[in-house]
Amino acid sequence: MSTVTDIMDSMEYGPSVEDSSAVRDWLTRRGPFGHFINGKFTKPGQTFASADPATGDKLAQITQGTPEDVADAVRAAKKAQNGWAKLSGSERARYLYAIARHVQKRERFLSVLETLDNGKPIRESRDIDIPLVARHFYHHAGWAELRDEEFPDHTPLGVCGQIIPWNFPLLMMAWKIAPALAAGNTVVLKPAEYTSLTALAFAEICAEVGLPDGVVNIVTGDGATGAAIVEAEVDKIAFTGSTEVGRAIAETLAGTGKKLTLELGGKSPFVVMDDADLDAAVEGVVDSIWFNQGQVCCAGSRILVAEAVAERFETLLAARMDKLRVGLPLDKSTDVGAIVDPVQKDRIQAICRAATDAGAELVGGQPGEGCFIAPGYLRNIAPANPGMEQEIFGPIATLSTFRTADEAVELANNTRYGLAGSVWSESATVATDLASRIKAGVIWINCANMFDAAAPFGGYRESGFGREGGVAGMLDYLAGPKVKTKNEPAPQTPQAAPGGEGKGGGIDRTAKLYIGGAQKRPDGGANYAVPGGLAPLGNRKDIRNAVEAAAKAGKWGGMGGHARAQVLYYIAENLAARADEFAKRSNRSEVDAAIDRAFHYAAWADKFDGRNVQTKPAHLVNVIPEPYGVMGIACPNAQPLAGFMSLVMPAIAMGNRVVVIAAQDDPLPVLDLYQVFDTSDLPGGVVNIVTGPKDELAKVLAAHDEVAAMWYVGGAEQLRVIEQAAGGNLKPVWSPVNRNWTGPQAQGREFLRHATQTKTIWLPYGA
Ligand code: NAI
Repeated sequence: MSTVTDIMDSMEYGPSVEDSSAVRDWLTRRGPFGHFINGKFTKPGQTFASADPATGDKLAQITQGTPEDVADAVRAAKKAQNGWAKLSGSERARYLYAIARHVQKRERFLSVLETLDNGKPIRESRDIDIPLVARHFYHHAGWAELRDEEFPDHTPLGVCGQIIPWNFPLLMMAWKIAPALAAGNTVVLKPAEYTSLTALAFAEICAEVGLPDGVVNIVTGDGATGAAIVEAEVDKIAFTGSTEVGRAIAETLAGTGKKLTLELGGKSPFVVMDDADLDAAVEGVVDSIWFNQGQVCCAGSRILVAEAVAERFETLLAARMDKLRVGLPLDKSTDVGAIVDPVQKDRIQAICRAATDAGAELVGGQPGEGCFIAPGYLRNIAPANPGMEQEIFGPIATLSTFRTADEAVELANNTRYGLAGSVWSESATVATDLASRIKAGVIWINCANMFDAAAPFGGYRESGFGREGGVAGMLDYLAGPKVKTKNEPAPQTPQAAPGGEGKGGGIDRTAKLYIGGAQKRPDGGANYAVPGGLAPLGNRKDIRNAVEAAAKAGKWGGMGGHARAQVLYYIAENLAARADEFAKRSNRSEVDAAIDRAFHYAAWADKFDGRNVQTKPAHLVNVIPEPYGVMGIACPNAQPLAGFMSLVMPAIAMGNRVVVIAAQDDPLPVLDLYQVFDTSDLPGGVVNIVTGPKDELAKVLAAHDEVAAMWYVGGAEQLRVIEQAAGGNLKPVWSPVNRNWTGPQAQGREFLRHATQTKTIWLPYGA
């Protein structure tokens, strides 16, 4: 036994293990567990064990949910939804406040249970996970209260199926349940199979506070149970987990009309500039990749450091890494706990092996007995090394260098993901410049892994779409105002016109495509007959050329709203000046609507603001709507001119460049816009127009990797094909169907929201 003198000599921490007896008693008393459906726990069915990853000890038996269990839960949620939605905002809020308070009362119990089940250090579950869970319910209780005031004309979606991972079990559950309930939805949630216990303890809290039966239903089980939820009669799926499963869910849901939000993987950059406070940056790495054993979707897993300070930084980093204590998660002085399951440990090691086989050098990162892996990093690592590309999801970072800020941005964005990024520089100018150029949904300046219920969280690119937290998160659980329906005529398959260009009898003109600001003949050289002439029969090559032209016109996004507004006003004025001429080919009402749209979105171009949200003290958090980049738009077949302008103007007002498939059966009114665009200072490549077989072209556009978001107006069956094609790189698809394109429901905030994705930027403020 060590004496006080020994301890004073070594300055080693003694073990200080949190007492887990109350939790163990509860597990014995309450297990084996069934599901929580319609306000009650069901009898356990076929069960499997949930284990403590630190020791391998079995903690409890939980039930593998069957499709029938899922159907029961969905039925209960459906039955409860109307009543729940009809409660006043403040009544719903009171339940959420009560849940928050009960979570706080049980903070210690829930922290210990989380740590036992997941392997994360008690310090983290106690100081980070559980307090954030309570914060999430408090914050969303407020949104329940304010829903009708702040989201007028919005309605809940109905029943939400929610599938969550094992890295932050209770916190991810709170992120899903709190906004759903605040908005007036009911839920069926499936925790991850490794970590279901805190969700079951939470179910007890729901019962304790008297939450109406069926509002929250928890069904446990593995991926098969998750798949059953995706297939069930729910109105929305919210998923957090691997990109592979996210992609599969997107494919399954294609064409079903169910709403979807996905929060997937990441390989987030952690950029250290040469003027950074290196000690602070090293602490940032600790919070970034060595937090929660690196099992964090937004972990700063790619450390990029300026060459000038790389050596000094690495020395500090290695020294700090050596001081981290790997050990029993329940020990209060443990920094790095257990990996959630042996399967995940093997996976981490396999990626590290592949990385070292490909020439990288692993510093630290050695496996221990059981589910432990020491923190480490891969150095001398090439950009194409698998360790640099794949999400390791363990306590292993990569370390590489850059020379200039431009190179840092290029490396930071050299990934298919775009979840988060952390930037370290003592210069506000340098840091905010990088923040604006890194393509990610969350940027932390001189901080890392900060979370708050008011700060939207979610990804760009293959990190998914949709946001959790704040206003953006609430909107993902609400439906906008109902639209008055107007049927959309399906286009016929266009046939190549005999005789080629300009030779059709009685046909007055042959139009061209509009690509990169110039009129282009279609790749195949063919045309098809349309009212008033011949239209070019575009093909996949034309779509690719148009996307390329749009990709090159990136300056448009950086011009600023004021400058874009000037161009849109100019378009509006030029169109107004030629209104009579346009009215020869279009209905007057369409021409008027087209002019209105240009004026309307010119007005919006510099006013669709972000907001500053209140999170933790000492941080200024800005939520900024950013353009997607290149968007694909397939226009309605009816009301060609009004439909085109209603979709294109909001998209470009927000800074996107667009590739547009004009109304297939009657595109000439749109093709007359070329001269208007040319005379209105619209830079080439911002609007690109292709005509031809709409659905064939739209599929190519939806599948294109360079296209970041897709709007498709057309039939349900075709929409399924488009959504499936878009699933490849996980771009969001929006389908504003059945509108009257000359009416008021064809313009407004809804369009702007779908033309942007939010970036949440955390800055130190008054610290
Ligand atoms: P996963 O994506 O399989 O699991 C996440 C959740 O989805 C779990 O609840 C699981 O039961 C459920 N699920 C699995 N297959 C499903 C399906 N076909 N339909 C519906 N639900 C399904 O992730 P897994 O296998 O646990 O971890 C593998 C890798 O995924 C990790 O190494 C990491 O790279 C990544 N991951 C990323 C997370 C994130 O937060 N972005 C979280 C968890 C894993």
